[in-house]
Amino acid sequence: ARSVRALYDSMSYGPAPEADGSVREWIRTAATDGAFGHYIGGRWVKATEQFEVQEPATGKPLAQVAQGSGDDVNAAVAAARAALPAWQALDDHARARWLYAIARGIQKHARHFAVLESLDNGKPIRETRDIDIPLVARHFYHHAGWAQLLASEFPGTHAYGVVGQVIPWNFPLLMLAWKVAPALAAGNTVVLKPAEFTPLTALRFAELMHEIGLPPGVFNLVTGDGRTGAALVDHPDVDKIAFTGSTDVGRAIRKATAGSGKGLSLELGGKSPFIVFEDADLDSVVEGVVDAIWFNQGQVCCAGSRLLVQEGVADRLYGKLRDRMERLRVGSPLDKSIDMGAIVAPVQLDRIRSLCAQGVEEGATCWQPSWGVPAEGTFHPPTLFTNVSPSATIAQVEIFGPVLVSMTFRTPEEAVALANNTPFGLAASVWSENINLALDIAPKIKAGVVWINSTNLFDAAAGFGGYRESGFGREGGREGMWEYLKPERAHHGAPVPVIDVVIPEQHDDSAPASSTGLPGIDRTPKLFIGGKQARPDSGYTRTVRALDGRAVGEVGEGNRKDIRNAVEAAHAASGWAKLTGHQRAQILYYIAENLSARADEFATRITAMTGDDRAAGDAEVAASISRLFTYAAWADKHDGAVHDVPLRGVALAMHEPIGVVGVACPDPYPLLGLVSLIAPLMATGNRVVAIPSVRFPLAATDFYSVLETSDVPGGVVNLVTGERDALARTLADHDDVGALWYFGAHAGAADIERASAANLKRTWTEWTGREWLDPRSGEGREFLRRAVQVKNIWIPYGE
Ligand code: NAI
Repeated sequence: ARSVRALYDSMSYGPAPEADGSVREWIRTAATDGAFGHYIGGRWVKATEQFEVQEPATGKPLAQVAQGSGDDVNAAVAAARAALPAWQALDDHARARWLYAIARGIQKHARHFAVLESLDNGKPIRETRDIDIPLVARHFYHHAGWAQLLASEFPGTHAYGVVGQVIPWNFPLLMLAWKVAPALAAGNTVVLKPAEFTPLTALRFAELMHEIGLPPGVFNLVTGDGRTGAALVDHPDVDKIAFTGSTDVGRAIRKATAGSGKGLSLELGGKSPFIVFEDADLDSVVEGVVDAIWFNQGQVCCAGSRLLVQEGVADRLYGKLRDRMERLRVGSPLDKSIDMGAIVAPVQLDRIRSLCAQGVEEGATCWQPSWGVPAEGTFHPPTLFTNVSPSATIAQVEIFGPVLVSMTFRTPEEAVALANNTPFGLAASVWSENINLALDIAPKIKAGVVWINSTNLFDAAAGFGGYRESGFGREGGREGMWEYLKPERAHHGAPVPVIDVVIPEQHDDSAPASSTGLPGIDRTPKLFIGGKQARPDSGYTRTVRALDGRAVGEVGEGNRKDIRNAVEAAHAASGWAKLTGHQRAQILYYIAENLSARADEFATRITAMTGDDRAAGDAEVAASISRLFTYAAWADKHDGAVHDVPLRGVALAMHEPIGVVGVACPDPYPLLGLVSLIAPLMATGNRVVAIPSVRFPLAATDFYSVLETSDVPGGVVNLVTGERDALARTLADHDDVGALWYFGAHAGAADIERASAANLKRTWTEWTGREWLDPRSGEGREFLRRAVQVKNIWIPYGE
C-alpha cells in the first residue's frame, strides 16, 4: 500500500476553472450598442468618447466604456446636488435601510461580482470570492449600522454634501465600498470615478443601485481616465474629495484643491516593512509573506514589500521562502487553484520589470522560481531580492508588484530604524513569539496599521490609513465616518470678522508707551525657543500698535532661521509624548493656575491692544483659563478604542500624537486663540511651534513667562512672532513638521495647502473666523481629533 506521504508527493493540481459564461454574457448585453455609459441621476448616459478595457489574463478586449468629459462630470455633480436635500431629509433608519439593501444586493450577486472582478483586474477568483466581495458586503452592513446610529453617535455633525471619489484599480469594488458606504451613511451624495483599467464592477454596482431603486442622483458614476478624475477634483460644486491611488496623483490633488475649502482625504502608497525577529515561528512567517506580497500580485498599497529579518534566521527563512515560492502557482485568474493571477495592465508590468532590472543593476541578488509564467497576458513571477542596500531604489520606491525586497538587522533598535527609513507610513507587520517585544516595537513604527503576527487584515470596523506620505484620513469604523462629517459650528448672530492686517515692518524710534501711560521700561519681548527667550535672528523688531494707532510695545521679527531653530527644539522635546496623560494634565493645570494669578495684568494688556472694554479682556482671560482646564481634563481621557474585528483578535486604535505641529494663530483673541490651539496639541503629546496673532502679539509673548513658571519642558511650546504668512510658509515647507494648523487669511491658507503637497503634511486651515469664546466652537473633540493620528494595532486575542 502506498503511504499517504507518497500520495501527497505524486498529487498535482489540475485546473479548476470557474465558469464565466454568464458574466461575459452580461458584459455583452448590459452595454447598449456595445458600450457602457455613465450612470448619472439614476439614468444611463451615453458618452461621445469611448475607450477599451482589456482582460489582463489574455490581453484581449473585454468591454468598451465611456471616457467622461467635463460636461459629464458637471451633469453628475448637478445630479448629486439635486438629490442631496431629499437624501439628507431621510431619517437615519431610512438611510440605514438603503445601505442594508445594497449589502444584500452585493451578497445576492456575489459570484457574479467575483467573476467580473477577476476578469477585469486579473486577480485570482479565490481572492475575489473569499476576500474582496465578502468584505464589500461587510462594509455596507457595517455602515448600514452607522447610518442607523448617526444621530446618537455623531451628534452635532452634518454631512459635507456632494462628495467626489476617485479610486484605483487594485481592489476596484472594495475601494468603491470603502468610499461609498461611509459617504452615504453620513448623508452625503456621491460622484464616483473608478480607475480606467477596472471600471466593470463599478458599472455593475451602478446597475444594482438602479435595481434596488436607490433615489436617483444619490450615487453617480462617471468612468474615464485621469482627466475625468481631475475634472471631478476641480469641480467647484464638490464639497469633499476622497482619493486612493498613487502618491504623485495625491500630491496633484492636494495642490488642485488648495484654498478651495474642499474636504480632502488621501490614501496613498506605501513601502511597508514586514519585520521578522529570530524567535518568530518561521513557518507562519512564510505563509504571512505569501499573504503580504503575493496576495493580489503585490498590487496592494499596504503590501509587506520590505522583508526585514533578524540576521540569525535570515538564511533559514530565505530557504523556506524559496521552497514556498517554487510551489506557488501563477496562471488564469479564473482557475480556483491559482495563487497569483495577472498584473493589471502592460504598463504596470513594464514598471515592475524595469524596477527589477534596476535592482539587479544596483547589485542586489534576484531570485525567481524555476518555472515560467504564461506567455500570453501580463504575468510576473514571485520575486525575492536579497543583499539589498537600504538606500537602493527597490528598497525605497513602491514597486506595486509581486516583488519582495529583503534586508537584515541585528537589534530591535536597528529593525525600527530600518522600518521607518521611508517617507511612507501605511502599514507594518511584526513577527515574534515574544509579545513583549512585539508590543514594544508597535508604537515605535510610524505607520497607520500594525499587524502583530499577521498581515493584510482588513475589516470595516477598524480604521485604515497612513502616516506621513502615505496620506491622511482613515477609512473604516468610527474613524472613517469622521471623514464624511463636519462639526456643526455654534454661531451667535453674525460671524466674527477676521482682522487680516499685516503690519509692514517698521522701526519706530519713539519708545512705546506702557499701558499705564508712563514711559515704558525697555522690555522688548523676545522669541521663545526651546524653553528660552531668544533674540530674533534678524535683529529687527516690529512695533505693535493698538487699534487707534498708538504704539503699545514691540516684538521680535522672526524669520526662517528662527522657525527652523524652533522646529529643532520642538523635535528634541520628544519626551513630552512619553509623559503620561496625567502628567501632561498636571502641567496644563499649572499653566492655568499661573495665568489665573496674573489675570489682571493679561486683561489689561489685551484691552490696551484691542481697544475693547475691560470686560472683554477679563472674559478672554477667564475663557483661556477655562480652556486650559478643558484640555487638562482631556489629557488622560482622549483615549482610543478597541475594535471588535472578526479576524484573529482585536484591533487597538491608539491615538498617537502627530509630533511637531505648526500653529498660525488667529488675529482676534490674542490670548484665547493661542491657548485654544496649543492646549489640545499639548494635551495629546505634540510639541508646538506657534506664530502668535500678528496684529496683537503681546499677550502671547507675556504668556511665555507663564509657561516658564509652569514646568513646561523646554521645546514643547515655541513662539515665533513676525509675519504670519511667511513664517507659516516656512513651517509648511519643513519636512520635520507633521501638521500645520492655520487660522488666518484665505490667500495664506491656499499657499500653505499648496506647499504642504510636497510632503503631504496634514493641514487644518480656516479663514472665516470662529466664536472662540464659545466652548461649543472653541474647544473639544474636533481639536483633539485633529491633534492625533490613529494607529490600528491588530493583536491576537483569545482563540
Ligand atoms: P493613479 O494614481 O494614476 O490612479 C488612481 C486613480 O486616479 C485612477 O482612477 C486615475 O484615473 C485617477 N487619476 C489619475 N490622475 C488623476 C488626476 N490628475 N486627478 C484625479 N484623478 C486622477 O495610479 P496608476 O497610475 O494607475 O498607478 C501607478 C502607481 O501608483 C502604481 O504602480 C502604484 O505604485 C501606485 N498606486 C497605488 C495605489 C494604492 O492603493 N495606494 C493604487 C493604485 C496605484
